[in-house]
Amino acid sequence: MKNLLVTGGAGFIGVNFIRYLLEESDYEGRIINLDKLTYAGNPESLCDIETNYADRYVFVKADIVDRDSLSVIFDKYEIDGICHFAAESHVDRSIASPDEFINTNIIGTYNLLELSRERGGRIKQFHHISTDEVFGSLEEEKYFTELTSYKPNSPYSASKASSDHLVRAYFKTYELPITISNCSNNYGPFQFPEKLIPLMILNTLEDKALPVYGDGLNIRDWLYVRDHCTAIWTIMDKGRIGETYNIGGRNEMENIKVVEMICDYLDVIVGTRPNREKRRSLISFVTDRPGHDRRYAIDSTKINNELGWKPVESFETGLLKTIKWYLDNEEWVENVRSGEYLDWIKAHYS
Ligand code: NAD
Ligand code: DAU
Repeated sequence: MKNLLVTGGAGFIGVNFIRYLLEESDYEGRIINLDKLTYAGNPESLCDIETNYADRYVFVKADIVDRDSLSVIFDKYEIDGICHFAAESHVDRSIASPDEFINTNIIGTYNLLELSRERGGRIKQFHHISTDEVFGSLEEEKYFTELTSYKPNSPYSASKASSDHLVRAYFKTYELPITISNCSNNYGPFQFPEKLIPLMILNTLEDKALPVYGDGLNIRDWLYVRDHCTAIWTIMDKGRIGETYNIGGRNEMENIKVVEMICDYLDVIVGTRPNREKRRSLISFVTDRPGHDRRYAIDSTKINNELGWKPVESFETGLLKTIKWYLDNEEWVENVRSGEYLDWIKAHYS
């Protein structure tokens, strides 16, 4: 691949992936980062990359729902590989307002597939980024494997499941060279503070309530974002075409434990609350998310055994790195929280 299209590269995982590819991996080609810049996309996160890799990195503001614009971009940049992150990604937003989820996650993916199909053998690989949420909630079964049947429970996960099925169908029907990965919950630098971990870090720092849904006993399997990025690149590099790979960290944790760990680490790193109470006193149990999946846990045996991938970070080391990143990057946090980066987008990309 010489010209890799990364969709959604201004979002949390996309930013980390582009950084990994350019700064650490053996990929030598060019990256075309295509992003609509929704509230979750922040190209400022890649300002230094834009300068330092001017010959190998280009940003294009575009919407994957707009097939005509996409088609021009495919040809202009001679796209020969795709890593597809672009999506509406927040479950709570999908419950409040599913429209954009259906448009971007299903129609947007369909557009990318159609344009790839139309270009015959020019697209060497189409890697689709998906989620463990397509499998629904784990009860009797121990772990999600690649053979677990799909039972999505939210508009978000249903839209991701639809896109996974389309991608697989384009392999079976048209022999488009696809791979798919289904990953567990990511955390780390550049995550938008609507998701559990950054929201809790920032709220504790501001002495605000920490809203834990329901009884706080829902379980997620946490993976540090750089480990997700190495897994994606491993699949793109060595994975078998037409295959799906599950990616997880074997870090199952109840939400309440995650929030308590964040409180305890911050008590040590920056001190207790102004009134010397421990930060755990900020925890507040709130109304549960409708349809809230109880437990996710990934079996990554296939990618471990076939491709030799393993995560590097434990939950403790990854969480400490994440907390440190949010403490060290006050300006990024401030811009995202105040929406100031939206002005920056207007100035640079309108
Ligand atoms: P994010 O919400 O942080 O970023 C999504 C990016 O996609 C943003 O930059 C946004 O501007 C862009 N985008 C949205 N709609 C678009 C459109 N119509 N056209 C072009 N760009 C558009 O999401 P994330 O957490 O980085 O997730 C990236 C991918 O990984 C998603 O497909 C998500 O389903 C998947 N995933 C996420 C996690 C996780 O824990 N965050 C875990 C597993 C899989
Ligand atoms: O499992 C992978 C998925 O992980 C990805 O596909 C999604 O894109 C990503 O958003 C994430 O989904 P979750 O719904 O699991 O992540 P979120 O951070 O929203 O919530 C994590 C858990 O914490 C979940 O059980 C809900 C709970 N929660 C979340 C928030 C924001 C709270 O208790 N309080 C909160 O304020």
